[in-house]
Amino acid sequence: PPAISQVEGSCGLRTGNCRAKGGSPGFKVAILGAAGGIGQPLAMLMKMNPLVSVLHLYDVVNTPGVTADISHMDTGAVVRGFLGKEQLEDALIGMDLVIIPAGVPRKPGMTRDDLFNINAGIVKTLCEGISKCCPKAIVNLISNPVNSTVPIAAEVFKKAGIYDPRKLLGVTMLDVVRANTFVAEVLGLDPREVDVPVVGGHAGATILPLLSQVKPPCSFTVEETEHLTSRIQNGGTEVVEAKAGAGSATLSMAYAAVKFADACLRGLRGDAGVVECAFVSSQVTELPFFATRVRLGRNGIEEIYPLGPLNEYERAGLEKAKKELAGSIEKGISFATK
Ligand code: NAD
Ligand code: LMR
Repeated sequence: PPAISQVEGSCGLRTGNCRAKGGSPGFKVAILGAAGGIGQPLAMLMKMNPLVSVLHLYDVVNTPGVTADISHMDTGAVVRGFLGKEQLEDALIGMDLVIIPAGVPRKPGMTRDDLFNINAGIVKTLCEGISKCCPKAIVNLISNPVNSTVPIAAEVFKKAGIYDPRKLLGVTMLDVVRANTFVAEVLGLDPREVDVPVVGGHAGATILPLLSQVKPPCSFTVEETEHLTSRIQNGGTEVVEAKAGAGSATLSMAYAAVKFADACLRGLRGDAGVVECAFVSSQVTELPFFATRVRLGRNGIEEIYPLGPLNEYERAGLEKAKKELAGSIEKGISFATK
């Protein structure tokens, strides 16, 4: 069946002059899980991104409505909707960037790992589609637990013979966004002026803000360091509890996802000096995956930066993070290889 509700459909009267053929310069982006709590605001923000020429919205429910709605925005990107697994391949063919927020979110009392049983299978299926239809695309993986879903994706791509570690990125941008906000609050600065590297992974103790490397250079008391580290590590839980059963972070996540996707697209375009934190295949530690700063370019990840100098508090945090991360990575790999 053809893709549902799209801008092109309304151009039938003047096909010769119709702009909506994906002809405007820019990149083709698919969002998988586009009708969800993250997916909808993410779709809206990507429709506003001038680097996007074609935006494919895929989900197993509700994409006709979301697509019709978003497609009325008077911005450049052509929007097409795809519903159900029989339309997954059409959604993926030709994509430059695939963003995946598909999967269930936490409720109060749950850890991200409690989502593994459902989300692991969803991510595996979607990555099999990517292997087949757009094997060269950059993949931004948001679905939790990121510490395990990224290793799952890597194994799926390996099995298909298309794995390029430079193109698979677990999205940890929300940790950086939160860290910038909370640190700015303590310092009395505008959060836009603050840059906090957050390394490790994306769950509890694996989220390791490097407060000794904050820009602009500053120092924190022991009390401030402990407060900030704990708030950044528990930012997701803070939102889950405040939403009281109605899900986890969606709006700040959509903002963070767009910030990160935009960086990937600027890299693809060839912009210099595009650097963000992400959870990637890495040799920075003895673990096969780790989040650090990476430089993004025409091939995805062009360079992975080392951790830099850590203070004693951060070194202790790193050991704790690595212990937890090792188990989550292994769990993902064994799921995908069993
Ligand atoms: P949600 O339930 O509101 O939306 C998820 C969407 O995924 C739904 O529309 C659902 O229909 C869709 N979906 C389910 N199975 C699918 C499949 N096989 N193919 C395509 N779509 C499918 O959840 P949400 O709040 O948008 O969160 C989504 C995921 O993102 C969760 O796993 C959550 O934990 C994670 N998350 C990650 C971060 C991060 O920082 N990486 C931040 C927030 C949330
Ligand atoms: C977050 O950090 O907000 C997400 O990982 C969602 C969650 O479950 O906390």
